[in-house]
Amino acid sequence: MSEIIIKTPEQIEGIRQSSKLAGQCLVMIEEYVKEGVTTDHLNNLIEEFIRDHKAIPATVGYNGYPKASCISLNEVVCHGIPSPTEVLKEGDILNIDVTTILNGYYGDTSRMYTVGEISKRAAKIVDVAKHCLDLGIDQVKPGNHLGNIGFVIGRYAKANKFSVVYEFCGHGIGLDFHEAPQVDHIARRNSGPILQAGMTFTIEPMINEGRPTTRVDKYDGWTARTSDGKLSAQFEHTILVTNSGFEVLTDVIGEY
Ligand code: MF3
Ligand code: CO
Ligand code: CO
Repeated sequence: MSEIIIKTPEQIEGIRQSSKLAGQCLVMIEEYVKEGVTTDHLNNLIEEFIRDHKAIPATVGYNGYPKASCISLNEVVCHGIPSPTEVLKEGDILNIDVTTILNGYYGDTSRMYTVGEISKRAAKIVDVAKHCLDLGIDQVKPGNHLGNIGFVIGRYAKANKFSVVYEFCGHGIGLDFHEAPQVDHIARRNSGPILQAGMTFTIEPMINEGRPTTRVDKYDGWTARTSDGKLSAQFEHTILVTNSGFEVLTDVIGEY
């Protein structure tokens, strides 16, 4: 892969605005995520919201991907394709992943949603996946090794007897959808490049209940499921490395 791009203040502002819009999509869609709704309906609401804000959904046409979002239910790890025949039911956990292009700049974020009452096991994996993202974000500061993000995520997942997907990674983002560096969610302590202010990348750990391995659906070429059919959960933010640490560009609720 090529060099990690250090963004200019002007580029950072553009990425900040696009990231904010992606974050707003995830807030907007929350009230529609309920039993009986199709994932295609959720996708259509997201697409309309993005286009109403003069932006483009980055996934449409990306390597042939057909939709404005990825919606990944239960054992689907990532890249679930919204479908008019996929209906949400009580007990489902799902990740909705949105990437926007606004004025040429990219923002990428995802989070888990739950439908009605969910099992204790499902609640646990959602919780652990969120905490894995937050632990990773805490490692973002100039001078730290990128690999420490994956180090702390792997350690926490393992302590909770879950596994970390290594076949899909976070990525640099901003001027393009997927830039250098690759952000591994399981890594050795003090491995990888040194973080510098002005870098922008995603952290998006996928945490599995059972084995870490995945299988991509051979019919649609996208849907990645756990190879053992057990649950998976994921949260994602777009992060800026600042002089003092980090800014979570896709956080629109003031959580960080
Ligand atoms: N948004 C995803 C990510 O976090 C990528 C989706 S690519 C698609 O990197 F083609 F599947 F939409
Ligand atoms: Co991403
Ligand atoms: Co994403």
